[in-house]
Amino acid sequence: MAMIAPPAMARILLCFFVLARVCASTGSQPSVDDGQSFFDVIEYGAVGDGRTDDTKAFKKAWTDACKSSVSMPIMHVPQNKTCLLQPLVLRGPCNSQNLTIQIDGTLVASGDPSAWKCDKKDCRHWIMISDVDGLSVLGSGAINGNGSEWWDHSLCHHHHVGCGKKPTGLVIDKCNEVRLSELTFKDSPQMHIAIEGSTRVTAANLTITSPGHSPNTDGIHIQRSQHVLVRDCYIGTGDDCISIGQGSAHLDISGISCGPGHGVSIGSLGKHGSRETVEDVHVRDVHFVGTSNGVRIKTWQGGKGYARDIVFERITISNSSHPIIIDQFYCDHEHCKNQTSAVQISNVTYSQVNGTSHAKAAVELACSETHPCRDILMKDITLNLTVKGKETTSHCSNVRGRRNSNIFPNISCLEEDEDL
Ligand SMILES: *[C@@H]1O[C@H](CO)[C@@H](O)[C@H](O)[C@H]1NC(C)=O
Ligand SMILES: *[C@@H]1O[C@H](CO)[C@@H](O)[C@H](O)[C@H]1NC(C)=O
Ligand SMILES: *[C@@H]1O[C@H](CO)[C@@H](O)[C@H](O)[C@H]1NC(C)=O
Ligand SMILES: *[C@@H]1O[C@H](CO)[C@@H](O)[C@H](O)[C@H]1NC(C)=O
Ligand SMILES: *[C@@H]1O[C@H](CO)[C@@H](O)[C@H](O)[C@H]1NC(C)=O
Ligand SMILES: *[C@@H]1O[C@H](CO)[C@@H](O)[C@H](O)[C@H]1NC(C)=O
Ligand SMILES: *[C@@H]1O[C@H](CO)[C@@H](O)[C@H](O)[C@H]1NC(C)=O
Ligand SMILES: *[C@@H]1O[C@H](CO)[C@@H](O)[C@H](O)[C@H]1NC(C)=O
Ligand SMILES: *[C@@H]1O[C@H](CO)[C@@H](O)[C@H](O)[C@H]1NC(C)=O
Ligand SMILES: *[C@@H]1O[C@H](CO)[C@@H](O)[C@H](O)[C@H]1NC(C)=O
Repeated sequence: MAMIAPPAMARILLCFFVLARVCASTGSQPSVDDGQSFFDVIEYGAVGDGRTDDTKAFKKAWTDACKSSVSMPIMHVPQNKTCLLQPLVLRGPCNSQNLTIQIDGTLVASGDPSAWKCDKKDCRHWIMISDVDGLSVLGSGAINGNGSEWWDHSLCHHHHVGCGKKPTGLVIDKCNEVRLSELTFKDSPQMHIAIEGSTRVTAANLTITSPGHSPNTDGIHIQRSQHVLVRDCYIGTGDDCISIGQGSAHLDISGISCGPGHGVSIGSLGKHGSRETVEDVHVRDVHFVGTSNGVRIKTWQGGKGYARDIVFERITISNSSHPIIIDQFYCDHEHCKNQTSAVQISNVTYSQVNGTSHAKAAVELACSETHPCRDILMKDITLNLTVKGKETTSHCSNVRGRRNSNIFPNISCLEEDEDL
């Protein structure tokens, strides 16, 4: 309808729709004074049949919601609608400091990588929200990246897509005061959610799933962002459940169930000799089931910067291959030269970590010779082998720190100190 009407007419029709919606939902006076207005993508022309490209309707609904002068504009994807979307940027700044994107239906991407309308060499995101202050993204719906064909390594040879960067499902880019909640994320081509260059972001009650064999499908990736809170999420993917990259500080992560996946990782930091920093990270009440790693810190040789002031506490681990690992020799290809500079790791506490390890070496701390890990503290740790019979062991090199006596396996490189 908006397509055939001239712009002014479209606006009048839209006002009518919005009022009708408010009347219908309250059953009484249009509640103008609570400041809410719905921008329903179906009213903007989305079909919602999972086959028609609804990208244009989303762009229009966003433009109006973002420009709206009401205090609480709500862009809405209704229940039982499946909207097929091409790569989409929802860009601010917006008028309201209290914008909501409420997704009760499903967003789905094309399952055929060659049908994605993006620069094939730079298909970095599916949905990106950029430069918005004061945003909630919530609802009972799902965001389905439909990425299984992107996961196939042979793509590179056949379609010339999927060789470089694969798209991230949802990117929160340069935003402040963001709340993500309730939604289900599924089968992203690459990472599911990336929080980049943003501050004061809360992600809660999310469910994020993709198969354990899907490559690089991290659940939540945090980078160049501060004051990020992740709580009460269920994450099972083919890569890190949560990965914490360069420039992250003041993170609070709790109540996470992780598996399958690679665990919770800080890094990798310091690739190509870069200076990278991560500080003040609390990870607590995390339950790992069948993950390759539990809590991991990984850095490249030759890097600079630091990872410090990190706490892992109340962690339970079931059958992980590397429950506790620091790897300062991270290398994702065969030959990485030994180098002298390194990202400095210090003040890392592990407290109340218990469960089972698939591998014998349940604790591995491999630190740089020139920049040994400092102030590594361990308290109340029990890691047994999944298969009873043998005892777990620990390995450490170039580690300084302390532990209490309630540690199994024994970690001989740490000084015993009952006052921790
Ligand atoms: C969605 O579908 C379910 C099951 O068919 C139905 O009960 C519900 O009322 C529908 N919701 C809407 C908003 O149409
Ligand atoms: C946004 O709206 C919610 C719900 O009405 C309200 O609780 C909150 O205070 C508002 N925030 C701002 C910044 O206006
Ligand atoms: C995912 O993509 C495939 C291939 O294009 C398609 O057949 C399927 O319907 C898509 N899945 C969903 C949930 O739309
Ligand atoms: C998460 O879900 C719980 C239980 O349903 C609810 O009490 C809590 O308010 C939710 N948190 C957020 C931030 O939505
Ligand atoms: C170690 O890190 C913790 C957690 O961030 C912090 O509270 C504490 O002040 C740090 N200790 C030192 C000596 O910096
Ligand atoms: C393992 O850790 C959990 C959570 O901190 C705790 O409740 C439980 O008692 C611990 N179990 C053992 C055997 O230490
Ligand atoms: C433990 O993990 C290993 C390797 O992933 C797997 O082969 C084994 O079946 C798992 N054992 C249990 C008891 O889950
Ligand atoms: C690099 O350093 C590691 C750890 O110190 C050592 O085991 C390895 O032999 C070194 N490799 C080379 C090529 O020097
Ligand atoms: C580890 O093994 C010890 C000794 O067999 C046992 O007492 C303890 O409960 C086990 N802990 C866990 C977390 O399985
Ligand atoms: C742990 O290792 C230290 C250093 O090798 C040793 O002194 C201590 O007796 C060991 N503790 C246990 C319980 O084996």
